[in-house]
Amino acid sequence: MTTAAFAAASAKSHKLWGGRFAGGPAPAFDALNSSIGVDFRLWPFDVQLSKAWAMALYKANVLTLDECNEIEAGLDAVAARLDAGEQPVAGDEDIHTLIDRLLHDEIGDTASKLHTGRSRNDQVATATRLWAMEAAIRLDAAVRELQQVMIDQAHGLETALMPSYTHMQRAIPVSGAHWLLAHFWPLERDRTRLRAAQRSAGGLPLGSGAVAGCAYPVSRVLLQGSLGFGALTQNSIDAVSDRDFVAELLFCATMIGTHLSRLAEDLIIYGSSEFGFVRFGDAYSSGSSMMPQKRNPDALELARGSAARMLGNLTTLLATLKGLPSSYNKDLQDDKRVLFDAVDTLLLVLPAVAGALAECDFDTQRMRAALSSTMMATDLADYLVRKGATFREAHGAVGHLIRQCEEGGLDLHTLPFAAFSAAHPLFEHDVFDALSALQSVEQREVEGGTGPSAVRGQLEAAQRALV
Ligand code: ARG
Repeated sequence: MTTAAFAAASAKSHKLWGGRFAGGPAPAFDALNSSIGVDFRLWPFDVQLSKAWAMALYKANVLTLDECNEIEAGLDAVAARLDAGEQPVAGDEDIHTLIDRLLHDEIGDTASKLHTGRSRNDQVATATRLWAMEAAIRLDAAVRELQQVMIDQAHGLETALMPSYTHMQRAIPVSGAHWLLAHFWPLERDRTRLRAAQRSAGGLPLGSGAVAGCAYPVSRVLLQGSLGFGALTQNSIDAVSDRDFVAELLFCATMIGTHLSRLAEDLIIYGSSEFGFVRFGDAYSSGSSMMPQKRNPDALELARGSAARMLGNLTTLLATLKGLPSSYNKDLQDDKRVLFDAVDTLLLVLPAVAGALAECDFDTQRMRAALSSTMMATDLADYLVRKGATFREAHGAVGHLIRQCEEGGLDLHTLPFAAFSAAHPLFEHDVFDALSALQSVEQREVEGGTGPSAVRGQLEAAQRALV
């Protein structure tokens, strides 16, 4: 075959491989092998890294300056076409093939020089890392917005007292702000994890070639700088198959999903008529096609449900990685399916949860009405300790009083003083003060506690975390 005829044949079915095959791929294989439906969105990053690669090839004396300029201008034209909505055609195997075809379309044969010294293996790893770094930043911003809503709502709940629960049983009174901020800090940890995942994604694999490293003297250091990576990968075999950064981002997503799910769960329970602590707004609730009275917290339920899919995505990736021999294997193509799904899902869920929470109308009277003096049992034991009893002795005496309450269907504050003094000689008439919910929270000014000053400090710390 002449060079021209060969070029014409490979242009017809625009493939980046195929020379060594006598027959073409079966349609069933093409359908399975094609990833363009998933990886199309990588195009801005593939263009970006391709431009940097052209420059690296020029500096390595592989391309002339004219060729480099032509390729760069061609890539800009390709980007403009994709930006304007140009869609893949049948036969575009993946985003790299599509961009290569369009570049040939734009500048002809010079385009064929761009793939010198690189492979789709280091190319896709680089593009996915660029995408992941940006995704981490977008997720951080979306989490942050939800955190701000939490702070805003918490301000309104600072003096609202409500039960805290352990085992879903009423425990000790807390400030409503303290409860809500319990959902703030997990997200703050998530943002720390996102930054770490972003750093992990920031190792540049480009220059690793298919597996053994590029055979041309390209400057990977210059590539690193021009593409905004924080480091260079150290081993080409590892670099083309390292998907730790995908796993890390998926773990972050799963953790965020889990945290949203727990917040959603609290709100859904607190929004039931049995609790009545919160009323959901119109904009994030739905009605029932059958029961006219319903106001269902669908956004929160969908947030809770989507955490399951994110966990599935993480598990899918880890299961893919665990059995792979070293270096690139095609199994890795599916890393993007799970990564994109997790990030897309969170970017839908986070604003919806933020909106739903902003719309929540807390019924502070119902919250307070859920408190009973029996919840101050711990405070009562502490009262005795302050008067000189050991905690164990105090716990026993209060337990005795609680039993009397249960038997008589009473609350602690309705027991006669005689019952207290019979339970323990250190009880005095001021015991009834110890049964106040306000006094209970005021005792807990320890850092991280629910005392009014501690909660005020916590709110300030939360706000500082967002600047
Ligand atoms: N579409 C492929 C992926 O996403 C690109 C890399 C293909 N590499 C190869 N050796 N066939 O993984």
